[in-house]
Amino acid sequence: MSVSHTTRTVRTALVTGATGVIGRAIVEGLSKVETLQVVPTGRNPDKLSSLYPSPSGKVLRGIILDQGSNNSILALTSQWNQPLHVLVINASATPKKKEITALGIETQWAVNVLGYHRLIKALAPLLFQSSEKVGEPSRIVVVASCWAGDLNLEDPEFKRRPYDNGTAYRQSKQAERMLSHAWAIRLQEQYGTFPMGTYKGCPHVTVNACHPGEVNTPLSNSLGFGGHESPADGADTPIWVATAKELACVTGGWFTYRNRSVCRFASDTESVRKLWDLVESYG
Ligand SMILES: NC(=O)c1ccc[n+]([C@@H]2O[C@H](COP(=O)([O-])OP(=O)(O)OC[C@H]3O[C@@H](n4cnc5c(N)ncnc54)[C@H](OP(=O)(O)O)[C@@H]3O)[C@@H](O)[C@H]2O)c1
Repeated sequence: MSVSHTTRTVRTALVTGATGVIGRAIVEGLSKVETLQVVPTGRNPDKLSSLYPSPSGKVLRGIILDQGSNNSILALTSQWNQPLHVLVINASATPKKKEITALGIETQWAVNVLGYHRLIKALAPLLFQSSEKVGEPSRIVVVASCWAGDLNLEDPEFKRRPYDNGTAYRQSKQAERMLSHAWAIRLQEQYGTFPMGTYKGCPHVTVNACHPGEVNTPLSNSLGFGGHESPADGADTPIWVATAKELACVTGGWFTYRNRSVCRFASDTESVRKLWDLVESYG
């Protein structure tokens, strides 16, 4: 994979789930930002190749990523050989019947929770290095949902209770929001803040979570919903969180329709700690 930087001002964004309805709109919207080029990722090579080349020339050749596989995440990390400034984690699964990944993990837990966590872990060092080089914060955007709750830390994979895709989805989205807040704190502790310059006092790597909107997609259909908003509407808040100047130094936030509010799940520090230990126990 080769990512070309023609000018010093170009930044690179990586988007997961780029072949989905909202993911495509995020890729398209980010590629319209003058200073950004975008690398889409997806699990389906045919769908992925349909995104490239783009009319703008700013969507680069995509990379195959199965977000439910740690090996696939590590393969992506090892072939990435350029700076990375924006990471939008958007891919999610919600199969109607219980599915298990090749490594025997329930699919929603693997893709929506462990996948999000492992991507941040794998790419945070690169995001930090890239922020240092350009002298501005790198950003991680977690596409989660308002429809979240009932996380069961005792039985996250539905081994002792009947599987229901809505329940599995809601708990996964709660976990994403909790983990994104935990990562925001952790990365600020690990990498610190800019000691001087325009971004003095700002974290090197910010992490914020958001709700994209209500869009009619395979995922929403699988959960029994439609969606009254356009894909572009659904992409609006993730793109805004990824690019808005006024959010450059904001970390640990939860956003819906460009509004910041307190995430009740992220505020439960004891449960966040337990969740962190649980996801870490998967290796
Ligand atoms: N639609 C809504 O109203 C709504 C509301 C709240 C939050 N969201 C969130 O928005 C995000 C995007 O969802 P969407 O509505 O746009 O759904 P979508 O169109 O069904 O897209 C889901 C994407 O996730 C990808 N994916 C699934 N499993 C994967 C895996 N193992 N590895 C890599 N990619 C995988 C799919 O790949 P394929 O293209 O290969 O299937 C697809 O690109 C999700 O995080 C969802 O929770 C959506």
